[in-house]
Amino acid sequence: MPLSLQDLGKALLDTEYAVRGPIVARAVELEKSGREITYCNIGNPQALEQKPLSWVRSVLALCEYPELAEKAPGAFHADAIAASKAILAGTKHGLGAYSESKGVRCIREAVAAFIQERDGIQADPDAIFLTDGASKGVQAALRMLIACPSDGIMVPIPQYPLYSATITLYEGKQVNYYLDEHNDWKLSRQMLEESLAEAKRFGVRVKGIVVINPGNPTGSVIDADNIAMIIDFAKEHGLTILADEVYQDNVYKGGERFTSFAKVMQDKDEHSVSLFSFHSTSKGFLGECGHRGGYFEIRNIPADVTAQLLKLQSVSLCANLPGQAAVYCMVSPPKQGEPSYNEYRAERDGILGELKARARLLADGLNKIPGIRCNEVAGAMYAFPQVELPAGRTDAQWCMALLEAEGICVVPGSGFGQIPGTAHFRTTILPPTRQLEAVVEKIARFQKSYR
Ligand SMILES: Cc1ncc(COP(=O)(O)O)c(C=O)c1O
Repeated sequence: MPLSLQDLGKALLDTEYAVRGPIVARAVELEKSGREITYCNIGNPQALEQKPLSWVRSVLALCEYPELAEKAPGAFHADAIAASKAILAGTKHGLGAYSESKGVRCIREAVAAFIQERDGIQADPDAIFLTDGASKGVQAALRMLIACPSDGIMVPIPQYPLYSATITLYEGKQVNYYLDEHNDWKLSRQMLEESLAEAKRFGVRVKGIVVINPGNPTGSVIDADNIAMIIDFAKEHGLTILADEVYQDNVYKGGERFTSFAKVMQDKDEHSVSLFSFHSTSKGFLGECGHRGGYFEIRNIPADVTAQLLKLQSVSLCANLPGQAAVYCMVSPPKQGEPSYNEYRAERDGILGELKARARLLADGLNKIPGIRCNEVAGAMYAFPQVELPAGRTDAQWCMALLEAEGICVVPGSGFGQIPGTAHFRTTILPPTRQLEAVVEKIARFQKSYR
């Protein structure tokens, strides 16, 4: 008898992942039948015409095939050749061999130097784990924290479904805390306390809190005071913080800047709250989603627990080596005066400049549509507008109807969570500007007829 659904665990069957759900499946079907579809459902920049950085691809090409430097003389800048040699020397046996479980040491050293430079704080290469994208790091942290079905993890609502899906898969409890849409999706201590108290009433032992900054799907950026408040809250209740900082380079709003949890913790001289911070090569201006590069840094985690984490990571041997090399490219970009610098800077600034313009274009355009209200997209790659629906309709129906009518694929707010009685959708800011303008026009036309 072949494998049947009855053979599978309930946790797997219950796991949902909205950004690749039934609306996307229908979009693929429509596309196959010849319809033109604009995919606004997932933060996958290079699928939406973003070009990879020459710096990253030069170094990766040379790491994969070092002979290229001689076979194609003049094709590569000297600093890209030097970077590839540094990586290869660190791997000892090239990209085709496993590395140690935490990842190649010289790459972890480069990550530590990056954190030191970004935040002006000490960072330890031994507290850094290279992963296949940030997702695998998040899964490792949640695997550590969820020990039994009454263990709970606080997640923001709306949230990125990696968290809800993984908590379900690991049979823990998702403890929702609501972000305040009317206050730029900021967190309030009151909301956190209420959600924790509610979970405790139901017998949930809350172990950790997830914070996504800049936010997916909200596009919000939280400041140092808000972060300090969360650290105090975590300390008071003995929670581990999971700081998802994959959008740290995606801040568009004037006056806003990214602040890391590690820095605020250090500034507060706080050494008793355990922290996992995640970063990725998938976002920012690299957009190297397919290379599955990422890392996490741990702070205030005792040695015996770290040993268990290392054991967990070693079960899958190591993160993929090209992804590790991509992390090196992200954290060790060319410096001013080096041969690749001007090209790197022009490409980086071009991408970030376009994202900033599109963030504004999208929020402004959506806010002109009757029945849609969108907060400013301060960071990350998404807008999460609220939409008024005719009585009895759901956001999933609205999104499906938008897809059928206009060929635009967005994700219903219910996939990320929302205050009951409200309806939202998430769209990325990633389509090229001319396409994004058309997206706004089409949503306007659709909303008029739908209402
Ligand atoms: C908030 C957030 N965290 C993590 C990830 C996972 O990224 P990666 O490609 O590094 O696994 C994403 C991807 O969209 C994300 O939006």
